Amino acid sequence: MDFFVEQRREVMRHVEPYMLEKMFDFLKPIDDIWQPSDFLPDSTKDSFFADIKELRQNASGLSYDLLAVLIGDTITEEALPTYESWLMMVDAVSMDEEGGWMKWTRHWTGEENRHGDLLNKYLYLSGRVDMRKMEISTQYLIADGFDIGTGTDPYRNFIYTSFQELATNVSHRRVASLAKRDGDTLLSKMCGVIAADEARHAKAYKHFISKIFEVDANEAMLAFEDMMRKKIVMPAHFLRELGTKIGQTFGHFTDAAQRLGVYTAVDYVDILKELIVDWQIDSITDLNESGEKARDYIMKLPERLLRVAERMKNPGLEYKFSWIAV
Ligand SMILES: [Fe+2]
Ligand SMILES: [Fe+2]
Repeated sequence: MDFFVEQRREVMRHVEPYMLEKMFDFLKPIDDIWQPSDFLPDSTKDSFFADIKELRQNASGLSYDLLAVLIGDTITEEALPTYESWLMMVDAVSMDEEGGWMKWTRHWTGEENRHGDLLNKYLYLSGRVDMRKMEISTQYLIADGFDIGTGTDPYRNFIYTSFQELATNVSHRRVASLAKRDGDTLLSKMCGVIAADEARHAKAYKHFISKIFEVDANEAMLAFEDMMRKKIVMPAHFLRELGTKIGQTFGHFTDAAQRLGVYTAVDYVDILKELIVDWQIDSITDLNESGEKARDYIMKLPERLLRVAERMKNPGLEYKFSWIAV
């Protein structure tokens, strides 16, 4: 095994007891946390059909782009097996089922599992989605996996998840406010509670990385720089539809998100800035020359990316997704 990866795993083992102690500051007790059924029509009640009718009426006002983004988000959430198996591979640092990392991953997966579950049921009931086409995309995404450039390095992995949880928080939050604008308050509430989960998860991952910065600042800085040089790719970057090639639908999905302002190039920069502040990148000491160079690169990056974002045009091309029935 790569010497550096082994060294990093050593650090992860060192942080592990702390993880175990802090985990439930970031996670909610299973008995009290929201469940999908809290928001969906109750099939044991006489009001079930009337509730569905109301849900469908409200869903009929959602714009085409918003529905497309919501479906893309749902597929991304439903590819959870990919993320769980990837985290397990990286987290198996101690090979201890009850160790901090394994335990965290199981509990995190449990919370995340509610997201795809809730959105899928909503979309099914909405009457606007070709569920079979959507399910095919989900199965493809799980089968295709992802290539996010972290390897099995735990530092890169948790930098990635810190970024990604913040990104999903932004996008679910924006979908919540657009759904409200389009008259669907139930969907707005659903995306709001999902966004709140993502924010808690982001806090946790950011915290783990802070701990790593405390004990191995130089290597953590190099990992951060490397991930930003490669750019943080979205977990659904291999998204496709029936009859298309791997990744072919992804650009259309992100175009719709950019057009709506659900997740934009400027949001990417804002997330980077937030991480720089939270990890106190500018005031970290004990860096060697390569670490200092990495820090320099990171500190200058937001400005550079903003200039690029300003020159970007909003994608105009509308695309017909096979997922959308009406
Ligand atoms: Fe999620
Ligand atoms: Fe998440």
